[in-house]
Amino acid sequence: MAFNIELDTGKIRSLVGGNLVGSRVLTVQEVDSTNELAKRYFQDDAPEGMVFLAESQTKGKGRSGRTWHSPPGVGVFLSVLLKPAIPVAQIPQLALLAGVAVAKAVNTISPLPANLKWPNDILMNGKKLGGILCELVAREGRWGVVIGIGVNVNHRRDQFPEDLRELATSLYLENNQTTDRTLMAISILEHLDQEYRDFLQSGMAPLVKSWTRLTGMFGKPVCLTHANESISGTAQGLDERGRLVVRMEDGQQRAFDSGEVTLRRE
Ligand code: BTN
Repeated sequence: MAFNIELDTGKIRSLVGGNLVGSRVLTVQEVDSTNELAKRYFQDDAPEGMVFLAESQTKGKGRSGRTWHSPPGVGVFLSVLLKPAIPVAQIPQLALLAGVAVAKAVNTISPLPANLKWPNDILMNGKKLGGILCELVAREGRWGVVIGIGVNVNHRRDQFPEDLRELATSLYLENNQTTDRTLMAISILEHLDQEYRDFLQSGMAPLVKSWTRLTGMFGKPVCLTHANESISGTAQGLDERGRLVVRMEDGQQRAFDSGEVTLRRE
């Protein structure tokens, strides 16, 4: 199989079209950012569950103002517009939900497993395989959430910027085989649909359990940067709201609702 074969929009539509996530599917060759595209469609009344996929992004966005390098034909770059009737404070939980969906999707396709690093990094062999950027959109008193997902699928090493080559990876680099991006996108959307329905019906408890099963970080030493503060301690688990509980060096526990985590060497 040619590694950069195009996404098959027809197949994606026919497999996820009846779902809540996948109510409409729009694929474009190139866009600034699928998150920005989704936000523009939200202003035009796009339906809940609409999916935006791009072959490449010219201004792909990562967390904390970083760039998400998005070369053509090798990644999955997608955004989903959701309009859940939940308090705004619960939005970070949707990012955890998306992480679970992506990790499960990768694990159905990849011989090597993916795991999660809080809040929403997808790792393989300790390197970054994918990430999630959740953004709030509002219009005339109504709001929605754009969940942006990027997965490095068939990237060769030289398709990452030099400064990321030791930190980032792709399914190709880890498994030494190409992966069908259409199947990867379909699997992500199907898992997202399932996790979203479960979350709306059953809330956080099952999600915290799934997330915990998919991470390798609990019990490990971490460094967490939160609001200009740098905290060292041991990652203990998620609390019932999805916050990261860290036991600090003085023995006290604190729960964090946001931050950047680095795993420290044991
Ligand atoms: C991170 O920094 O880990 C989050 C990366 C999120 C990247 C995805 S790619 C599709 C969507 N569009 C964007 O501009 N960003 C997200």
